[in-house]
Amino acid sequence: MRSYKFEVFTVSIEKNIRKGIYQPGQRLPSVRDLKKMHHLSTTTVQHGYERLVSQGLVTSVPKKGYYVSEPITDLENTVYPIVRDPIFVNNRFHTTSANLKRSVSEFNVAAPGDLLIPQKLLLRTMQQVIRDKSAGLLRYYDSNGLQDLKHKIISHAAIYRTIISPDELLITDGALQALYIALSSVCETNDVIAIESPCVFSVLEVARVLKLKVIEIPFTTKIGFDLDFLRKACLKNNVKALVITPNFHNPTGAMMTDEEKQSLLSIAQKHGLIVIENDIYGDLPFNGERPSTIRSFDESGSVMTYSSYAKTLAPGVRLGWLSTAHFMHRAEQIKFALGSTVSPIYQETVHRLLSNASYQRHIRSFRAQLAKNAQFTIDLLNECFPRGTQISDPKGGYNLWVKLPKHIDVDLFYRKCEETGIRFTPGDTFSFSNAFENHFRVVFSDKYSSKKIEAIKSIGKYIH
Ligand SMILES: Cc1ncc(COP(=O)(O)O)c(C=O)c1O
Repeated sequence: MRSYKFEVFTVSIEKNIRKGIYQPGQRLPSVRDLKKMHHLSTTTVQHGYERLVSQGLVTSVPKKGYYVSEPITDLENTVYPIVRDPIFVNNRFHTTSANLKRSVSEFNVAAPGDLLIPQKLLLRTMQQVIRDKSAGLLRYYDSNGLQDLKHKIISHAAIYRTIISPDELLITDGALQALYIALSSVCETNDVIAIESPCVFSVLEVARVLKLKVIEIPFTTKIGFDLDFLRKACLKNNVKALVITPNFHNPTGAMMTDEEKQSLLSIAQKHGLIVIENDIYGDLPFNGERPSTIRSFDESGSVMTYSSYAKTLAPGVRLGWLSTAHFMHRAEQIKFALGSTVSPIYQETVHRLLSNASYQRHIRSFRAQLAKNAQFTIDLLNECFPRGTQISDPKGGYNLWVKLPKHIDVDLFYRKCEETGIRFTPGDTFSFSNAFENHFRVVFSDKYSSKKIEAIKSIGKYIH
């Protein structure tokens, strides 16, 4: 993880402000004191303070020094409409994974669990494909993807009124590659993009690798995607693109209504913003009603939609797609540079599953199991975790967003998780703003074993 020298003091100042230890209006340590204390140069200390100023936490008073900003109301939940460099202040994800030695109960991998992957169906279909296509699978396939597969994807999308032309569809190696291609097609280094907050860390990593600056727009189960915030961010900045998961957002599970999708589209059109829509969980509504996409309301060609089969079939099925809207030419060049052909065996396998309705059959039973898991997980957390714990209420997908009460020491909580051998995904990996320290994500995409239930209960007991 990249980190800056100034973090030796900015992390603790930020923590103290968020916890109310440093009060609004209070003077913060002087540049000279911090220099001495941490053996830093004046410029490094000033850069650190500038970072805190840009986060809205600190105010600089010329010739006097740095002060805690006011008013500081519920900072924990506040994300500011400011442009951020994509840097994790504190990314526990890596340390938690690295330190885990013992066998674990995994609630941190957002993909179908081993017991819910349709293993037999996938392996049988792959064997049939190998028999039928034999050595043909060893050749290069068309860089943009297998035509017949594209037609199947297009017909499936038409069921939820998402009209895609074959001339703008690219088959990709998963959803993340689709996002990489989409962003690289419309942005240059240092451009500003808007992302949802919290935002899954894989999307943050793509922004970081592409050296894009980000504005984090709140997306919560209570208020949904904050359109007003987006509007303000667009008025103040030249925002090139918005990356958004309108259906069963990861990690909250929140979903935008059709009206919200349309309002978002009109903001995007007004400000010339390209919407890059992640529909990776769209096929997994608990009630079986396939939600619409933002794309289904778009007539101007400003929405690029992408998805993959990693979340619905298995993460090892490396197959996704991107509808490129007006950006096909650029997108296919980038796709080619990233490796031309997507593995023929996966293309043929998914084509077959979409052709003979087995994909739809699998989805029906998968989402019924997910609906049960969701309720079970929420009940279990409510039973075991302390009063004041807030749990999101998803209507599809398999991600839950949990907020621990203020008094819980999160460092101790994660240490206890490591000892117990349980993995959640820490909240601070879902933002560059450090706003979600006392949150974590629970993934319920596998069957429950008694070992898993006991693991959650023992963590719950510990933090009570
Ligand atoms: C929102 C989102 N996009 C993309 C991905 C990655 O998908 P894929 O494995 O198809 O690249 C994930 C999962 O890690 C995700 O949650």
